[in-house]
Amino acid sequence: MIELNNVTKKYKVGENDFYALNSLSFKVEKGEFVSICGASGSGKTTLLNIIGTIDECTEGTYLFDGLDVSSMNDRKRAKLRNEHIGFVLQDFALINNQTVLYNVMLPALLGKTKYKAIKSNALKALQSVGIADQAQKKANQLSGGQRQRVAIARALINEPDLILADEPTGQLDSETGKQIMETFKKLNNEGKTVIIVTHDKTVAEYGNRLVMISDGKIVSDI
Ligand SMILES: Nc1ncnc2c1ncn2[C@@H]1O[C@H](COP(=O)(O)OP(=O)(O)O)[C@@H](O)[C@H]1O
Ligand SMILES: [Mg+2]
Repeated sequence: MIELNNVTKKYKVGENDFYALNSLSFKVEKGEFVSICGASGSGKTTLLNIIGTIDECTEGTYLFDGLDVSSMNDRKRAKLRNEHIGFVLQDFALINNQTVLYNVMLPALLGKTKYKAIKSNALKALQSVGIADQAQKKANQLSGGQRQRVAIARALINEPDLILADEPTGQLDSETGKQIMETFKKLNNEGKTVIIVTHDKTVAEYGNRLVMISDGKIVSDI
């Protein structure tokens, strides 16, 4: 599904080049649940953003289902993202004064699907993460764990094949974090490919595969 070959992400920091990712190669097959684990600053978010097509690599190639993402223009990349990828962002990025239902519907409202169908899909997505009963609440009336679930439901609205999540338990207590990881596990069991990044080894253990990253390089993959 995903193939990164010698991917490098270089930033200019003053006079110097800084490599957030350094010639990194990485493959993920359909149906995997991969945890990418590393210390703060190791390049996890950079890597996930490239996989999620919201950032581009400086060198190397990225193939998604055999298509060369690194050579796509913005429009093509956005289309690929909308159709195939659900991204759970680190800070949830919910619209606080809108309902849970609206927040989940939002990414689909930009497409061609009819409003009624989107609403029904949104309720299904909320059901699959266990908070359909919260649909009419405002996003800012929810607990951290519930907000994380809304962010996951929103990532599911366009029925992606691939779900990405950046530190999905970062702002949650450990019990709530466990429940969220069980939710990703369930989605994986239902056929979604899941990639999460985390600095927390116990969280990473929910995956079927553990990739350790350090200084922009993969140092182990088991
Ligand atoms: N826009 C940027 N300019 C310069 N350096 C950056 C930029 N974005 C990220 N970095 C650096 O790249 C490294 C990796 O960042 P990041 O991928 O966010 O790490 P992680 O998510 O593992 O904490 C860090 O050292 C960070 O400071
Ligand atoms: Mg990060």
